[in-house]
Amino acid sequence: MSEAVYINEVGLRDGLQNQPNPVSTEAKLQMAAALIAAGVQQIEAVSFVHPKLVPQMADAVDVLAGLRPFPNLQIAALVPNMKGYERAREQGVQSVAVVLASTDTFNQRNLNMTRAQTQDTCTQVIQRARADGVFVRAYISGAFACPYDGKTPVDIVHRLTADMIEAGADEISIADTIGAGNPQQVRDILGPLVRQFGAARFNLHLHDTRGMALAMAWAGIDAGVRRFDSSIGGLGGCPFAPGASGNVATEDLVYMLEEAGFTTGIDMQGLRKAVQVAEVATGQHLGGRIIKWMQSQELRAAQNRQPCV
Ligand code: COA
Ligand code: ZN
Repeated sequence: MSEAVYINEVGLRDGLQNQPNPVSTEAKLQMAAALIAAGVQQIEAVSFVHPKLVPQMADAVDVLAGLRPFPNLQIAALVPNMKGYERAREQGVQSVAVVLASTDTFNQRNLNMTRAQTQDTCTQVIQRARADGVFVRAYISGAFACPYDGKTPVDIVHRLTADMIEAGADEISIADTIGAGNPQQVRDILGPLVRQFGAARFNLHLHDTRGMALAMAWAGIDAGVRRFDSSIGGLGGCPFAPGASGNVATEDLVYMLEEAGFTTGIDMQGLRKAVQVAEVATGQHLGGRIIKWMQSQELRAAQNRQPCV
């Protein structure tokens, strides 16, 4: 049997948080339904952040309520602090994600805290989550480069990761928040971490700003990583990280993995429909590279079916 790779769809959170036009709760739930129909089993659906700073996440409670009818769906919420954690728990969320950025500047701009303050906050939330039996992931954000301070030294990423694991995080997501990394960095960061802590603990969160995301995902596979974040149609971006473009497109990642013999449990035609739903929801033209190829194949097939004259 082929080996499983686990895809965590972050389109509803990372993909939508930076959209210029409001996306209705109903449209978000239609996106979720299309993703679930395609076989997606894990979704980071919302964040509990300040609604004035990130208005697209202001309906987090309603989105979670709309996802309740899907009993097998694993739903996570991003929580930047204890207040966010408590808001998530009021909704019965069983999986949360905290965010620790690699530099002071990025933490300040994103969460209004220094790195040390964010680390303390993350530690407190992680400990509380563990006590409550809630699964907790820690993002190491800007792990490849900081949008303000440039390339991130590997030893900082290793240290922050070890600290978050020691604090009790179940999973660490190594995040290329602005899509500035390269495959060699994936090796340098994840090789030693996987050897020390085991591959099962790690997830790769990639943005495709410079077209490196699939190459980096494959370097992650080589390093043993089997958990990835991705976003339908390549939606994404962070309002507090200038220069960030969309996440690696779920359909491109799934195509690469399935073609390479891994099992994701996700269906390409279903993802294609989900891209269309996301396009309607956002009013944007979306889709990774593979969608164009699928369309061109269909066009060719249709042309071949036409009677000769
Ligand atoms: N959700 C909603 N409101 C929150 C909150 C949360 N998680 N955390 C704090 N607040 C409220 C406080 O209750 C307080 O409200 P009040 O003025 O009515 O009393 C106000 O925000 C200020 O609280 P403070 O603790 O000083 O927060 P802050 O102003 O330093 O902001 C964050 C901190 C984390 C809430 C804010 O920077 C934020 O929401 N950042 C989100 C960034 C983001 O989404 N990035 C992308 C994903 S990583
Ligand atoms: Zn991201």
